[in-house]
Amino acid sequence: MKHQRILSGERPTGPLHLGHYFGTLANRIALQNQGHELFIVIADYQVLTDRKSCETLQDNVKEILLDYLACGLDPFEKTTEIFCHSAIGSLNQLLVPFLSLVSKAELERNPTIKSEIQSANLSVINGSMLTYPVHQAADILSLQSTLVPVGEDQLPHLEIARTIASRFNERFETVFALPQPLLSEGKRILGLNGNAKMSKSLDNAIFLKSSAETIQKQIRKAKTDTNPSIFFDPVGRPEVSNLLSLLHFCTQEKEEKLAEQIGSQGSGKLKERLSDAVIAFLQPIQEKRKIFEKDLRILNAVLQKGNQKANEIADQTLNLVKKAMKTCYFFE
Ligand code: TRP
Repeated sequence: MKHQRILSGERPTGPLHLGHYFGTLANRIALQNQGHELFIVIADYQVLTDRKSCETLQDNVKEILLDYLACGLDPFEKTTEIFCHSAIGSLNQLLVPFLSLVSKAELERNPTIKSEIQSANLSVINGSMLTYPVHQAADILSLQSTLVPVGEDQLPHLEIARTIASRFNERFETVFALPQPLLSEGKRILGLNGNAKMSKSLDNAIFLKSSAETIQKQIRKAKTDTNPSIFFDPVGRPEVSNLLSLLHFCTQEKEEKLAEQIGSQGSGKLKERLSDAVIAFLQPIQEKRKIFEKDLRILNAVLQKGNQKANEIADQTLNLVKKAMKTCYFFE
């Protein structure tokens, strides 16, 4: 793949878990190690879409930074930068002209927004919830990203970014290249209850920083079924198959082969093997995390460097936008 500027990111709502790792983090680390320019946005303003309080924000940003570094994202040795929405003035300013390029109907029919509103059980839908895909377009376009790794649920947002880019180019002047999605290959990691995506809010997640005891306890309690023999059948036996998939992600061995090895030893054995595998998999990550935890000032250096770089690029983009929109006022 030719050299790309890649943007990826998430909302800082808590520490990262195995769903994040196998869903997106592993992929980002691979892209980083292939030498691409990787930007990661900690989407702090996006937290305001479905919650009122920012009390935990600072702690969540700390946790997410520690998780990133522990997993091998490396802003000092690689071309990787990590920044926060709230530190990039020019990025946020792009939201204003961009909002004029989409209709209310387009915002309201975004399927991801609809399902997020539903699952968050919101009594009031604020303007930030409805417009965050436009803000996300500002993330993507202000950095002039060429490639955006996304899960399927983020595809509608990328489509809005592409729509905004082409409408802007048409209405004013060509400023933006259209970013491409890089669809991650369907690694939807289910939680330990096997019936929903792994997520902190559903209380079914194994965090990257969890202790061995917690992991053992969680996996012991994971839902299975009554069939004493283990085989891989994601449709008929979603819970058991999900545990096999997690074991596959940690060991790289095929689900069918793992199932065959466990066979009639049943779900007790499956859980024992999964606990051991998860603990072994997370051990080097947790060891690295401990080193970074000893001196949190490294996190300041990471953000300072990332924010500065993102500001530089976003400022340049905003200048091009201003020129195209004829909002540079200088009279002679
Ligand atoms: N909306 C994304 C999520 O919830 C996070 C995000 C914000 C993002 N800005 C982005 C992802 C830009 C990719 C590119 O996961």
